[in-house]
Amino acid sequence: MTVRIEKLIYKDFEEFYKLYSLTLENDFPGYTKPVIDYFLNKIYTREALINWLSSGWKIVFIAKNQEKILGFAMLDKPYGGVCFCRWLGVLKKARKKGIGKKLINAWLDFSKSYGCHKVEIASQPESREFYEKCNLELEGKRNLSYFGINQYIFGKTIGQPDDEVMTKD
Ligand SMILES: CC(C)(COP(=O)(O)OP(=O)(O)OC[C@H]1O[C@@H](n2cnc3c(N)ncnc32)[C@H](O)[C@@H]1OP(=O)(O)O)[C@@H](O)C(=O)NCCC(=O)NCCS
Repeated sequence: MTVRIEKLIYKDFEEFYKLYSLTLENDFPGYTKPVIDYFLNKIYTREALINWLSSGWKIVFIAKNQEKILGFAMLDKPYGGVCFCRWLGVLKKARKKGIGKKLINAWLDFSKSYGCHKVEIASQPESREFYEKCNLELEGKRNLSYFGINQYIFGKTIGQPDDEVMTKD
């Protein structure tokens, strides 16, 4: 299967949003239904995401096989030299084929090209082993954290802190 990674553009937004909603609804077992509804209907709505994408506050990479979207990584705009990956998901039937790793690499490449010195992610317990396999470093565990789940904090240093990068925008 040939999978390429692209930056999300407007024409693919609806298909991306369908996969994003499906992933939140089915693949984050620690979040209750009201929490998922809150994410989808109050925070990460279509309108909010379109605004954030067009203003650069969020960056989304998608994984495509031919024209079908199989996965996504949603990043926050780098802040303080650190790029945080907010959401990551791969379509259930396309998992364990290396797509998640490709999305992680796209995140790392983007962060390096931005000049970031670090990347970070907060993993739900179910995905801990995946991030270890991606060679991110486990930096700690938050107990009963945001929205009531335990989170494993992973990070990776990718450069030296740079005042110009950390204070731009
Ligand atoms: C986590 C997720 C993105 C992984 O995507 P994927 O495309 O299956 O990952 P890959 O195929 O690139 O896997 C890379 C490696 O991690 C391993 N791996 C993937 N998912 C794993 C899991 N749940 N548990 C243990 N190992 C896992 C793979 O076997 C592979 O190992 P290898 O390098 O030894 O071959 C996907 O399972 C997913 O969307 N899960 C639901 C949402 C989620 O948990 N997102 C992360 C949010 S914190």
